[in-house]
Amino acid sequence: MSIDRATRTSQSTVERSGSAPLLEVADLRVRFHRRGRHVHAVNGLSYRLHPGRMLAIVGESGSGKSVSVRSLMGLLPPTAEVTGSARLDGLELVGMPEKEVRRHRGADIAMVFQDPARSLNPTMRVGDQITEAVRAHTDLDRVQARERAVELLRLVRLAAPERRFHEYPHQLSGGMRQRVMIAIALGARPRLLIADEATTSLDVTTQAQIMELLLDLQERLGMAVILISHDLGLAASYAQDVIVMYAGRAVEQAATTELFEHVRMPYTRALLGAIPTLERPAHTLLPVIPGQPPDLASLPEGCPFRPRCASATERCGEAPPFVEHEPGHWWACWHPATDEEATP
Ligand SMILES: Nc1ncnc2c1ncn2[C@@H]1O[C@H](COP(=O)(O)OP(=O)(O)OP(=O)(O)O)[C@@H](O)[C@H]1O
Ligand code: SF4
Ligand SMILES: [Mg+2]
Repeated sequence: MSIDRATRTSQSTVERSGSAPLLEVADLRVRFHRRGRHVHAVNGLSYRLHPGRMLAIVGESGSGKSVSVRSLMGLLPPTAEVTGSARLDGLELVGMPEKEVRRHRGADIAMVFQDPARSLNPTMRVGDQITEAVRAHTDLDRVQARERAVELLRLVRLAAPERRFHEYPHQLSGGMRQRVMIAIALGARPRLLIADEATTSLDVTTQAQIMELLLDLQERLGMAVILISHDLGLAASYAQDVIVMYAGRAVEQAATTELFEHVRMPYTRALLGAIPTLERPAHTLLPVIPGQPPDLASLPEGCPFRPRCASATERCGEAPPFVEHEPGHWWACWHPATDEEATP
């Protein structure tokens, strides 16, 4: 695994982080009401994201990654109750009326998902789909919007954009379709792009190409990117900042280089232990982390990781607060690893 890319980019964006944050999330909570049960999907998430920076949110399946970002876009069902605050350039998104949310969705915040085949309309040429997205968010006429669509295909580095413009989704490979989805997302020049497992279904080489593209767009357009992934290795290679989520909470958060040099939380260490390396190839890995995440409908008392944690003591019966223990490095744990223990 290489974190050189993140090291390089974290230096180039540090100066920019002096600017005002684009997104400020504070104590975000999402509860689903279902058949008399309350599912606590997100339980007090707080972070700041600056323009031109990539933040990765990582964690196991069901940790609340997708719900936390979908709540920013008004993409949750009516059974969801969202509280707390999420400000985009000072504009409060939580509790915003649906009509207004729709105006911002796509225009200020855009999202790309895991499965481009399902997100694209199979009966419509890809160029027309991008043109529609451009027209929905700008006042360009049809001819100008088509020109912009070809430009966008070029921007996402799709070879032979004029020819591809006239093709249908089934004529493109998975990687090309994801490039088209990114072009659609960029149609309105969003300030924040959310990639939710956007490369998960792609082979390793195509995954790396799409990640390089996202990084390039982030740098060139000054866009902020949230990368949602269960893969801490991928996050480390591309994002400058990482939030590790467990049971709907942030449990560790830092700049990528800091996190990897001084990992504190036992859960993050366990996730790191599951990353293949040259010395430890994927086929020799133990099952990711023994045990199951807690039932979000009846969260246990104390630290939610306690039943699976080798470092747990009686003290962990009380929930550890999520605190900035070292400059820029936050974690929630009573027994963090020391520097000697921290190297996985
Ligand atoms: N519409 C819904 N109604 C009820 N519960 C929901 C709904 N959507 C999500 N959840 C629950 O919220 C929790 C968090 O889900 P979320 O999709 O955010 O997880 P995730 O971290 O993105 O997982 P994955 O890696 O599998 O995508 C899960 O327990 C899920 O079952
Ligand atoms: S607080 Fe205790 S149970 Fe929770 S991660 Fe830390 S050591 Fe483990
Ligand atoms: Mg998800």
